[in-house]
Amino acid sequence: MSATKTQYSDAARTMWETTNDDYEKFRPSHDKAGVRVLLEHLGLLDDVNQRNGTPPTDDVTPSLDNVAPRTYDLLEVGAGTGKCTRVIKDLLGENARIVALDPVAGMIQQLKDKVPGVDVLVGFCESIPLPDNSVKAVISSQSFHFYANEAALREIHRVLIPGGKFGINFTADDEDSPLVHGVLDLIRKYKYPECPDHFVNPLLDTSWKDCFDAAPLFTPLQEHIFPWENQQTLPDAESVVKLFMTYSPIAREPDIRKECAERMFELLTTDPAIKQVNGIPMDIPRMSALYWCTKK
Ligand SMILES: C[S@@+](CC[C@H](N)C(=O)[O-])C[C@H]1O[C@@H](n2cnc3c(N)ncnc32)[C@H](O)[C@@H]1O
Repeated sequence: MSATKTQYSDAARTMWETTNDDYEKFRPSHDKAGVRVLLEHLGLLDDVNQRNGTPPTDDVTPSLDNVAPRTYDLLEVGAGTGKCTRVIKDLLGENARIVALDPVAGMIQQLKDKVPGVDVLVGFCESIPLPDNSVKAVISSQSFHFYANEAALREIHRVLIPGGKFGINFTADDEDSPLVHGVLDLIRKYKYPECPDHFVNPLLDTSWKDCFDAAPLFTPLQEHIFPWENQQTLPDAESVVKLFMTYSPIAREPDIRKECAERMFELLTTDPAIKQVNGIPMDIPRMSALYWCTKK
């Protein structure tokens, strides 16, 4: 079975076709400080800022059938509803030429509505509908575990210009928090057994990096990991359950999801350590985990 055709990743994409409103409502924005650091490592901040108001040379919006021959500053793969895209756009400004790709039409439609001025494509990272050498940098935000395979790396390599850079951003939940640890452990109990643990916590299980060794197309991955500046705070246990039920490893059959959600609510409202440390409202501490490399 290929990395794009597994029960757990197919189930997650199907779930997000119908629950992308909850995704958009309860998933946090990305840590602006973290995204800024990644854009600096990708060499984009200075590049775009120096352009000084020069409009794009070509305003044709690409589609799967007709991709305009233009160079983009940035391709965001697995862009979802655009949670990271809007932070990137904010940091790079109006003149940045950004294109976002995601296979779930419902997610990318949210991105289109919420982040104007970004071109959108429906598709998989393993088959990027863009010409060779057409983007200066590629970012994968909170989604690389879905396509941590050689086919996707070859495609990213193909669309990058010579010397182009690839950056990965994970918003990893901090399991030092009793709330996060308790909820993620529950998700581990209910996920498909074959779903790798890096879908739950890409900092604890770093086997998603193995594909870089299998296909040595990039310089060695560099990394920088630090706590978020502004942690997400949710008002009550119901909202925390809604947030975590958008997580891909718990894209399971309705009865399993129902049982998991009920147990999560019970945990959040009765566990003494969670009550004592997290209280109400509830903080969800996270880490910015940034990785980057250059096309060889
Ligand atoms: C957890 S969401 C992250 C979305 C967004 N980047 C964010 O930060 O909120 C993972 C995204 O990866 C997308 N995805 C799954 N498989 C993919 C693949 N093979 N190629 C590209 N994107 C994929 C999903 O559709 C989903 O939108």
